[in-house]
Amino acid sequence: MAIRNIREIGDEVLSKKCKEVAEMTPRIRDLIGDMLETMYEANGVGLAAPQVGILRRIVVIDCTGENPYVLINPRIVEASGEQTGQEGCLSVPGKAGMVTRPSYVKCEALDADMQPYVLEGTELLARAIYHELDHLDGHLYVEKVEGELMDAVPAGEEDEED
Ligand code: NI
Repeated sequence: MAIRNIREIGDEVLSKKCKEVAEMTPRIRDLIGDMLETMYEANGVGLAAPQVGILRRIVVIDCTGENPYVLINPRIVEASGEQTGQEGCLSVPGKAGMVTRPSYVKCEALDADMQPYVLEGTELLARAIYHELDHLDGHLYVEKVEGELMDAVPAGEEDEED
């Protein structure tokens, strides 16, 4: 596995629509492994394939650091409620903004073995699913920010007590 270069806002690959994955190949398997490694290395909770320059409908999410989800060709089938909270993106480094998303989402996807499964999320997981799926259609959260884009607290500093 390898760390891939994360594309940043302004890179045109981030505004394109991604294509579905028709079958698992060694190349796509490597891509998924690299996406997970790249996400963890950057302390992110999610990463979409276009963020590493690949226009395929693949997303990885891990909100806890120990429970990774791979979503291939994901599709939201149910959503409800509303939550407004701070959001950031590895492709928009150092920034954050308030975004309103559904508070519950049910999503159908294929896993890394191309087996269908259902992922339900609330709170941060619901937010991450929406955020990452938006990437697959060429959208960044900055389009949805309420108010100003703010400077983010650097990762690791928000929990320091002294
Ligand atoms: Ni993002």
